[in-house]
Amino acid sequence: KNLSLIGVPTDIGAGHRGASMGPEALRVAQIAEKLTKLGLQVVDRGNLQGPFNPWLPPVDGYRHLAEVVAWNTAVHTAIYGELANGRLPIMLGGDHCLGIGSISAVARHCREQGKALRVLWLDAHTDFNTAQATPSGNIHGMPVACLCGYGPDVLTGIGGTTPAVTPDVFRQVGIRSVDEGEKKLVREASVAIHDMRQIDEIGMRRVMERALEGMDENTHLHVSFDVDFLDPSIAPGVGTTVRGGPNYREAQLCMEMIADTGALASLDIVELNPAYDKRNQTAKVAVDLVESMFGKSTLLRG
Ligand code: ARG
Ligand code: MN
Ligand code: MN
Ligand code: MN
Repeated sequence: KNLSLIGVPTDIGAGHRGASMGPEALRVAQIAEKLTKLGLQVVDRGNLQGPFNPWLPPVDGYRHLAEVVAWNTAVHTAIYGELANGRLPIMLGGDHCLGIGSISAVARHCREQGKALRVLWLDAHTDFNTAQATPSGNIHGMPVACLCGYGPDVLTGIGGTTPAVTPDVFRQVGIRSVDEGEKKLVREASVAIHDMRQIDEIGMRRVMERALEGMDENTHLHVSFDVDFLDPSIAPGVGTTVRGGPNYREAQLCMEMIADTGALASLDIVELNPAYDKRNQTAKVAVDLVESMFGKSTLLRG
């Protein structure tokens, strides 16, 4: 597999500044070197460019809508181009609003190649808000809704097909913070949610078996890894920590089971915020986990 790293240094959709430093923190944690050591071919494409964050209040329920459109359009073009060249893109975010650009590109690639799509959404949040439901106006709380066609035309139309995907492609794992209005929306859309209670009750192994069920050789697996998926005790370097997330072992098992499918074809790492971190520990944990996602295994299994 030929991997392309694409940095997207922005916090345009977030409510805390600093996710714009995520790409650099992942590079400092040696993401390229660690993946190369696994025998993968890795090229770092550097960073995309886009508008500065003006840090303004929401307008009609959206903060920085025009800037979010600009960044996501650039992401769509870059990710689509990598996939068209037969490469495996890894987006180094940036906040989670960027999932609109990347997943719309993956969906377009899958449509054109006659592939089935599965999106594994690892997150504390469902990110299914709309302008009416959002408590914050922050578009990083809205990408799943936008991808499913609920949102402003300028976002739902990125990639040329609205909606970009149907809700049934998603499997959300780690969920533990959903806003009141958002709950109603995810239920109506019947998004498959494996929340923390389910992980508590049946364990990460059985949750991941369910989340990965029904894929075959024709399935493109996209992983959207919001670093706030992890428990804040191991990953404090995010703007929107929510206690009670997966611990290090649970997260490792999750990643190893992704590797075992052999279907991983694109990845987003988002919401890493070095301004909230200490000694880059969260980037290091994220890179550890990404190594497992790409097949790094324990000595015992060889
Ligand atoms: N639900 C909250 C909101 O809409 C938080 C969203 C956090 N999303 C994220 N990608 N970290 O503002
Ligand atoms: Mn492909
Ligand atoms: Mn989140
Ligand atoms: Mn998220």
